[in-house]
Amino acid sequence: MTDSSIFIAGANGQLGLALQAQYPGAKTADIDMLDITDRVSVEAFDWSSIKIILNAAAFTNVDGAESSEGRIAAWQVNAMAVSNLARMSIKHDITFVHVSTDYVFDGSQDSHTEEEPLSPLSVYGQSKAAGDIIVSLIPKHYLVRTSWVIGEGKNFVRTMLSLGQQGTTPTVVADQVGRLTFTSELVRAIDHLLSSNCPFGIYNVSNGGEPASWADITREIFADADINLAVSNTTTAEYYKGKQGVAPRPLSSTLALDKILSTGFSPRDWREDLKKYVAKEVNS
Ligand SMILES: NC(=O)c1ccc[n+]([C@@H]2O[C@H](COP(=O)([O-])OP(=O)(O)OC[C@H]3O[C@@H](n4cnc5c(N)ncnc54)[C@H](OP(=O)(O)O)[C@@H]3O)[C@@H](O)[C@H]2O)c1
Repeated sequence: MTDSSIFIAGANGQLGLALQAQYPGAKTADIDMLDITDRVSVEAFDWSSIKIILNAAAFTNVDGAESSEGRIAAWQVNAMAVSNLARMSIKHDITFVHVSTDYVFDGSQDSHTEEEPLSPLSVYGQSKAAGDIIVSLIPKHYLVRTSWVIGEGKNFVRTMLSLGQQGTTPTVVADQVGRLTFTSELVRAIDHLLSSNCPFGIYNVSNGGEPASWADITREIFADADINLAVSNTTTAEYYKGKQGVAPRPLSSTLALDKILSTGFSPRDWREDLKKYVAKEVNS
């Protein structure tokens, strides 16, 4: 596998940037270079030298997807665009790596296995679930389901750090539980699947360690950043009470990691990576 045979879609998102760092010689495109929702442009693209498509493109604005325009955009990027790329993968015998989410589940199970039936609650989750079904039809596919992604971009850790640095005492939901996934770890797992020729199929990937609530993660962020503020707990229902256009979220986002572990990949504890991430943010 040489970098020049890799194509990264959605290259400027959190995951896309980390994939570019891992595969500096890869061909890349974001929406301004190749809008993957445009079937004609996707078909006109020169796929002849591509052996692997890494699809990091997505409509990830979970609440935005609940509006009438957002619903269309989410389905365009998370489902229609996936079918455009899938068609190219099948036609040109390209391995397709796609990234999905725990939001394809309703969160009623404490831990989600790769076999759990789809049960999305939100428009975002529904559009991602449609993408998962499309990807399952590609002969050479890795469908990587992940949760709570943290990388270069707007994310929960940066939001909480910024609130803490301003001296704001946040009230944070304590009934949504999961594990953070640092993009460095997600990319390491994708590279492992590809370079170890793991069997094609669905793989859950997140950091390892004990699952925690957003409120507990905020406490960890503040401790790592030496911010001495108390974090108050709330419930999801209370936090969103009276707010319009909010997407329902699964209460359990924890992904079972047994399958990826069985391939010889051992994800780092999210607390270790969080400490490093916070130190870098504080010193930047
Ligand atoms: N973020 C999370 O917490 C999370 C959790 C679980 C799973 N995931 C999944 O992980 C993957 C990566 O997420 P992320 O956090 O890296 O997302 P992100 O930062 O929002 O990046 C998505 C990228 O896709 C691009 N894109 C959107 N529409 C496109 C189009 N039509 N053609 C080409 N590119 C397009 C976006 O460009 P613009 O910015 O210009 O729109 C953006 O650069 C996604 O599949 C997401 O569903 C994310």
